[in-house]
Amino acid sequence: MYKIKLAVLVSGRGSNLQAIIDACESNRINAEVKVVISDKKDAYALERAKKHNIKNFFIDPKAFPNREEHEKAIAKIIDELQIDLICLAGYMRILTSYFVNKYKGKIMNIHPSLLPSFPGTSGQLDALQYGVKFSGCTVHFVDEGEDTGPIILQAVVPVKDDDTVESLSARILEEEHKIYPEAINLFANGKLKIEGRRVKIIK
Ligand code: GRF
Repeated sequence: MYKIKLAVLVSGRGSNLQAIIDACESNRINAEVKVVISDKKDAYALERAKKHNIKNFFIDPKAFPNREEHEKAIAKIIDELQIDLICLAGYMRILTSYFVNKYKGKIMNIHPSLLPSFPGTSGQLDALQYGVKFSGCTVHFVDEGEDTGPIILQAVVPVKDDDTVESLSARILEEEHKIYPEAINLFANGKLKIEGRRVKIIK
């Protein structure tokens, strides 16, 4: 069976990347990570890619006059490798409309809250400070907004009275590592149908 080709975009430690690599290598999902691209030179995610002999690139945003030119350099790699799906995994940049439109319906992101609550870069802290009793994570398609695209999968975790950002983040992360590969596999198997804001999962 055909395995879809993934590009994973990262900026940091890459634990979601690792979960995706592991799911691919153990044949739990119909996908293979073809390339890992980072906007940070020292991202540990690049080391993870190297360990698994996966092509990896640091594309320095500072080497380009603007965001679009930076993305064009990324797009060149993606097109050359005939990538089927782009997975943002802790990629800390907002994509321009150029990139989002070029790969419409082919970019996913994982976010550590139950969207649309607590978008942005501090989803776990914001949930704690708000006082919600449950939080979780969301895999969604990427549109031009920040964490606003159509939702594919969500997982819920309880927020405990004595939680810190660290303990809540760890509980959420465990679920991230499950639902991101699962969402990728649904895509790989042609099971996701985007209808406006809703993503239907075909049985
Ligand atoms: C995760 O919490 C993810 O939800 C968010 O950034 C973090 C990335 O962690 N988008 P990692 O680099 O995958 O370990």
